[in-house]
This record gives sequence, C-alpha cells and structure tokens, in this order.
Amino acid sequence: MLRSTLLYLSKSDRLKDFLNSFKSFNSITRRFVAGEDLAEAVDAICALNSKGITASFDHLGESITSEAETREEVREYLRVLDSIKETGIHSNVSVKLTQLGLDVSHELCYQNTLAIVRAAATLGNFVRIDMEDSTKTDYTFDIFRRLRHDYENVGIVVQSYLYRTERDVEELLKLGARVRLCKGAYNEPPSAAFPSKQQVDQNYTRLMKMLLESGIYHGIATHDEEMIEATKTFAAQRSISKAAFEFQMLYGIRRDLQERLVAEGYRMRVYVPYGKYWYPYFMRRLAERPANVWFVAKNMIKG
Ligand code: FDA
Repeated sequence: MLRSTLLYLSKSDRLKDFLNSFKSFNSITRRFVAGEDLAEAVDAICALNSKGITASFDHLGESITSEAETREEVREYLRVLDSIKETGIHSNVSVKLTQLGLDVSHELCYQNTLAIVRAAATLGNFVRIDMEDSTKTDYTFDIFRRLRHDYENVGIVVQSYLYRTERDVEELLKLGARVRLCKGAYNEPPSAAFPSKQQVDQNYTRLMKMLLESGIYHGIATHDEEMIEATKTFAAQRSISKAAFEFQMLYGIRRDLQERLVAEGYRMRVYVPYGKYWYPYFMRRLAERPANVWFVAKNMIKG
C-alpha cells in the first residue's frame, strides 16, 4: 500500500514541488544520492574506497525520450570513465537502457550502450546494465546479448521477484554472463512477480545458489541480512572463495553492514547515484522502507 502510494506520487510533480518547498530537502536527498555533479560522486567514491569498498557510478536518468538527451548521457558516461582512469578510483559504471534511448529506438539504444561498453573496454573497465520494469526485460536482454557477443566487460541485472528469472539465469549462465542479483524495485503486477516477500526471498536464495555455483564472478545485491547470511553459509559449505563474488549495496543504506562485511574479508561494492534527475530513484528508496518516509517527515518538520 505504502509502496504503491509512493510510486503513484512519484509519477506526479506535486510531491516534488511540495518536498522542494522545504529548505532541508537537499540534506535529505543526500542520504541516498552522492550529489548533483560528477565531482561530488568522485569524492563519495574516494571515501568508500578508503574503507575498502569499490563502487559503481550511476548517472541518474531514465525514461528519456529525446535522442539528443540520450547522446548527452553517453557523453556523461564517457566523462565518468575518463575520470575513473584519471583519479585511479576503484569503480565501474551502471547504466539504464531507458536512459540510453530504449523508449526512442532499440537501435539507438544499442549504439549508445555500445559506445559506452567499447570505451570501457579500452580503459579496462566494466559496464553493468540495470534492469528496469518488466515491460523492458526482454528488450534489455536482447541488447545485452548483442553486446555480450562482442564484449566481455558488460554485465546484467536480474530480479528475484519475477517468475521468469530462474529461466533467464539459466540462459545467462550459458553465455558466461556476469550477473547482479537483486530483488527488484518496481511496482509489478501479480501476473509477472511473486506477490509475497517470502516468495521473493526464497527465489533470491535459489538464484544466489545457481549463480555462486557457476564459477562466474557475480554481484549479490541486497541489504537483507538473511540473504547475506544465506550467501555466506552457502559459499562456505561449497568452499567458494570470498574473492569469487561480491556483495553490493546502495549508497547510504546499511553503511554499518557494508563495513562489517569488508572487515570479515568479503568484497563489497556500493552503487553511487548522482545527478540532477534524482527524483524517481529517491522515491523508490522511500517506497522500500516505511522508516525512510518517517526519516523524511522528521527532517521536513525540523527544517
Ligand atoms: P528488502 O527490501 O527485503 O530489505 C531488507 C532490509 O534492507 C530492510 O529491512 C532494511 O533494513 C534494508 N533496506 C532495504 N532497502 C532500504 C532502503 N531503501 N532504505 C533503508 N534500508 C533499506 N532493482 C532493480 O529493479 N533493478 C536494478 O538494476 C537494481 N539495481 C540494484 C543495485 C544494487 C547494488 C542494489 C543493492 C539494489 C539494486 N536494486 C535494483 C534494488 C533492489 O531491487 C531492491 O529494491 C533493494 O535493494 C531493496 O531490497 P533488499 O534486497 O535490500 O531487501
């Protein structure tokens, strides 16, 4: 209920205007978003690196319908890749296909993503393609497969809330694809996704085991301590090295757990979003956890 209300509100500008009218809003956004420009994201990643945590840049943007704007996004990602090289920070990049033209034309999207993947290959870097809502899943896999045919430095995301994902993982493993496993962040109909948290978690555990057993380097993306414990236990039982996979979390969420996992010798990567188009991302983070809404409300009252 809370999730669908927030997702509904996130589609209108009313809540944004309302939130913008509070002076303290920036400090609230900063809980989940590293900043509005690249330099701020680089600083955030330097701080993470100093704690033994690697990162993934996300220039915030999605559902772009102008071809010119998709090309701007490509330029921004090329700038990001250059700055990773120049600064020597430990980070790769994550992209969304609707940011790169999926809603304009599939060929444009493919060419835009290819430009980023090719530049990353030249610089010895890696590009992760985020997964969006289930109307985009097939198209995202199609473009990923085309890219993966020629480039190894590209990976994909799967969502354990979708019924289809077990089959998708089987296919992806045949390609030798590097996968990020997450639960899924969009408001999906019961025809596409498991309705209960228990089913999503059960599927998450099943998929995590398939991935870890594959011998390919994957990302286990979650803040859920139960999922993390299940991963640690399974890896230990199968003598899978801590260096054979990585945990991934979102910027600003469960920093205590991020540091604890590093102290235990696990690999940890944090997804670092930045940019002016923070709103849909921010709303998804609020929708995931009622406590975040109280956090915002408290700060708005204080402000
Ligand atoms: P769950 O939602 O069950 O939460 C477990 C616990 O984690 C909560 O009890 C709370 O303690 C903590 N927690 C979770 N979310 C929180 C929040 N917003 N604020 C504070 N605490 C929180 N999704 C997608 O559809 N496509 C994608 O490409 C990606 N990419 C991605 C990358 C990375 C690195 C991560 C970590 C996540 C994603 N996601 C994503 C988002 C993912 O699908 C999911 O919505 C969130 O990670 C929340 O799910 P959890 O696995 O954390 O479990």
